[in-house]
Amino acid sequence: MSDYPLESTERERDRLERQARVLRPLTERLLRRAGAEPGASVLDLGTGAGDVAMLAAELVGPTGRVVSLDRDAGNLQRAHERGERAGYTNLSFLERDIADPPRLGEGFDVAVGRYVLMYQTDPVAVVRAIARAVRPGGAVAFHEISLYEGMRDDAWPASTRLFVETMAKLSPSLRRRIQANIAPRLPSIFVDAGLDVADWGFELSSPLVHAADAIPVGVDLMRTFEPLAIADGAIAAGEIDWDAQERVWRESPPHGALTLPASVLGWARVPGSKGDDRDA
Ligand SMILES: C[S@@+](CC[C@H](N)C(=O)[O-])C[C@H]1O[C@@H](n2cnc3c(N)ncnc32)[C@H](O)[C@@H]1O
Repeated sequence: MSDYPLESTERERDRLERQARVLRPLTERLLRRAGAEPGASVLDLGTGAGDVAMLAAELVGPTGRVVSLDRDAGNLQRAHERGERAGYTNLSFLERDIADPPRLGEGFDVAVGRYVLMYQTDPVAVVRAIARAVRPGGAVAFHEISLYEGMRDDAWPASTRLFVETMAKLSPSLRRRIQANIAPRLPSIFVDAGLDVADWGFELSSPLVHAADAIPVGVDLMRTFEPLAIADGAIAAGEIDWDAQERVWRESPPHGALTLPASVLGWARVPGSKGDDRDA
């Protein structure tokens, strides 16, 4: 169900780690709201370099449990090594498609994915499959990106202009392969997958970050997408001057900051509750 287009390389795993440092506060807020509390069980979807796994492991503590899935063996190895080095004893990793999640007793308390639903060709089917691994009353939560929202013209014009120009070149290839503007669709994806959105747990949020921290998310993300546009013939190899891009971002004013493309945070409940279940 996924035709994940990004490379499986150490460089890409390094990028995910740098990106994670910027995204962490938003994901933490989402996880807490969705119920990742001490003792809870969390299913982490598409773990990459393991950052969401470790964040969840911290929140649920030693009495909780985190099971992380990824199809990429290299990513799982990096995530596993980092988790061990950090001393987490409540983390396990499985090489598995997120559309085929494992079962855990009566179901996980929370399933969470970051920057992963946007890569699925049929997000409704994937969310429906994930919901079956979550207990009634538990939560399904995603932190995704809305690539075309959030950069502010007036925040830092030089870097913004370069970002917008480059994104325009990459856009046709992204739109073909990625749910590039998933934000406004997330509530209906959840509803179509059978989740209960009565609590309306959705938010579009643009982190305001220091310029130095923005480079990993802005320029690195576009660099990651570059091979797709070259493969499609949309741009030529070497056409984008990445050194110039990074220079503009690095030469930001002291304490320069800008808004990044927006994050969409969304969570919804699996219908029913433990009580309902027992009464049935
Ligand atoms: C952009 S990375 C995000 C990693 C991590 N969630 C984070 O935010 O740091 C997406 C990850 O999802 C994995 N992935 C994508 N589609 C998948 C699928 N259908 N099943 C399992 N893993 C998948 C990729 O291998 C990659 O590791």
